[in-house]
Amino acid sequence: DHHFGKDRPLAGKKALVSAGPTYEAIDPVRYIGNHSSGKMGYAIASQLLLLGAEVTLVSGPSGLVPPAGVNVVRVTSAAEMLAACQSHFPLSDITVMSAAVADYTPKAVADQKIKKADSHLTLELVKTTDILATLGKSKRNDQILVGFALETQDEETNAQDKLHRKNLDFIVLNSMRDEGAGFAGDTNKVTIIGKNGDKEVFGLKSKEEVAKDICSRVIRLLAP
Ligand code: CTP
Ligand code: CA
Repeated sequence: DHHFGKDRPLAGKKALVSAGPTYEAIDPVRYIGNHSSGKMGYAIASQLLLLGAEVTLVSGPSGLVPPAGVNVVRVTSAAEMLAACQSHFPLSDITVMSAAVADYTPKAVADQKIKKADSHLTLELVKTTDILATLGKSKRNDQILVGFALETQDEETNAQDKLHRKNLDFIVLNSMRDEGAGFAGDTNKVTIIGKNGDKEVFGLKSKEEVAKDICSRVIRLLAP
């Protein structure tokens, strides 16, 4: 039966993908956000689906159209993304966290629009919960957990540190040094580092091709 063969090697598997930015409210009309487009995560969701997985995509605010056939959970803030990911993780065989989650959020959301007053305004921010690290703590041996790392210095050391700290199977290091790489464009240049320290360096590719490389690695991990 080709549905369970080479064409659809992830048939019967459940996958969870996080994508896009998060928006952290400051007041009723303002937020702290970032330039993540969601393209990388949407491309991963699309590949996993093509390979036969049942895919849940937890997406922060993104203008992209989700791939048809994917179960989409729309969220806005880091706290909402955490709740959605935590509820789907226990049932997920393959989890890829590619969202650009805010590291800090305003300590309090003002009830009313903040009025312009003094020459300076200080906002107090508090750290958000690390979603990936939280999932890593409850990860079972039969689950695959993949994260990303965005670094501008000591890239491999920092990525390796995140890989171990968050209990991942492998981490996808995004190079910010190269032209055409990064989280807003259509292309990416990544290095995949495995938990045993092995390293795969890839050239500049479309995000679809990067998604295929990530999925190939997942399939290899699942193979007995
Ligand atoms: N991540 C997450 N929840 C957060 C912050 C990050 O799930 N609150 C995930 C991202 O989706 C990514 C990985 O953690 O898969 C690494 O994100 P990154 O921003 O590179 O690392 P941080 O651990 O946040 O550390 P820093 O930003 O200080 O480098
Ligand atoms: Ca971060």
